[in-house]
Amino acid sequence: MSNSNPKVWLITGSSTGFGRALAEAVLKHGDSLVATARKPEQLNELVNQYPETAKAVRLNVTNQTEVQAAVDTAIQAFGRIDVLVNNAGYGLIGALEEVSDEQIRRNFETNLFGAINMIRTVLPVMRQQKSGHIVNMSAIAGFSNELGFSIYGGAKFALEGVSEALYGEVAPLGIKVTIVEPGPFRTDFIGRSLDRAEHSMDEYQETVGKFLQFLDKINGSQPGDPDKAAQALIQVVNSDNPPLRLVLGKYAYSKFRKKIESLTAELDAWEQLAASTDFETAGAR
Ligand SMILES: NC(=O)c1ccc[n+]([C@@H]2O[C@H](COP(=O)([O-])OP(=O)(O)OC[C@H]3O[C@@H](n4cnc5c(N)ncnc54)[C@H](OP(=O)(O)O)[C@@H]3O)[C@@H](O)[C@H]2O)c1
Repeated sequence: MSNSNPKVWLITGSSTGFGRALAEAVLKHGDSLVATARKPEQLNELVNQYPETAKAVRLNVTNQTEVQAAVDTAIQAFGRIDVLVNNAGYGLIGALEEVSDEQIRRNFETNLFGAINMIRTVLPVMRQQKSGHIVNMSAIAGFSNELGFSIYGGAKFALEGVSEALYGEVAPLGIKVTIVEPGPFRTDFIGRSLDRAEHSMDEYQETVGKFLQFLDKINGSQPGDPDKAAQALIQVVNSDNPPLRLVLGKYAYSKFRKKIESLTAELDAWEQLAASTDFETAGAR
């Protein structure tokens, strides 16, 4: 496919789901790609199809040596990195009391610290280029959380907080940041990838248990199409003014709106109390 402005992408977690769909779409679009996976042999077929523009690299985002090697491979192969997509991640379902300390830390290691590792390793490259786009895969749960997702959503909230500040820090350096917030999409997220609480407790069966049953029920028939999400991401990356937050799917869109409305209503209701805590002489910053 002819592409007047080909870009170099580095995508984490390209084995299945969003990462795989985006990897295929990017190559079809005529861009170059360093596709990464914990088991890189899963990428063989893709790379064989695009020998000139695709490279496969082993990458667990929690392993700094592999992170650095992936970035080095991209530079050796293509000389630059235009788009970093921090897609690698997975859900952890369970009430806060039900999940183990080890499950909590492992989830944050991938969903938050893995993305931070990638960003901090790619930034020197993008700063030198004076251009680049960092796309961080959050979730609608990273803006409006679900019960049972305290840790998963918590890690995504943290990723969004990091991304918001980063957006302002790197804008003057020519680097863009976009947070992606999908609702339920048909990937391996609920199936093989979902980590489930180690200690199930009766007390949470009516709440978190019901949410888990709901997830299992919709698995395979989620409304979101990862191929369409991939096209949306390519469009955003090629737009002159990409958004800080990109919501994907009608479910996420409606949840996002409801959250804004409830935040506004709560803010209005408590405005006077909030204002009353300043010194009389203090001005607003
Ligand atoms: N699908 C949804 O409904 C949904 C909604 C909101 C947000 N998301 C987010 O979308 C992203 C992609 O998930 P998906 O829906 O496409 O699910 P998926 O099909 O399960 O894909 C997850 C990918 O992340 C990789 N991964 C997990 N831990 C990793 C690690 N430590 N290092 C490197 N790669 C790792 C997996 O690799 P392996 O193949 O080796 O396991 C896989 O490639 C995640 O960040 C997820 O939180 C998904």
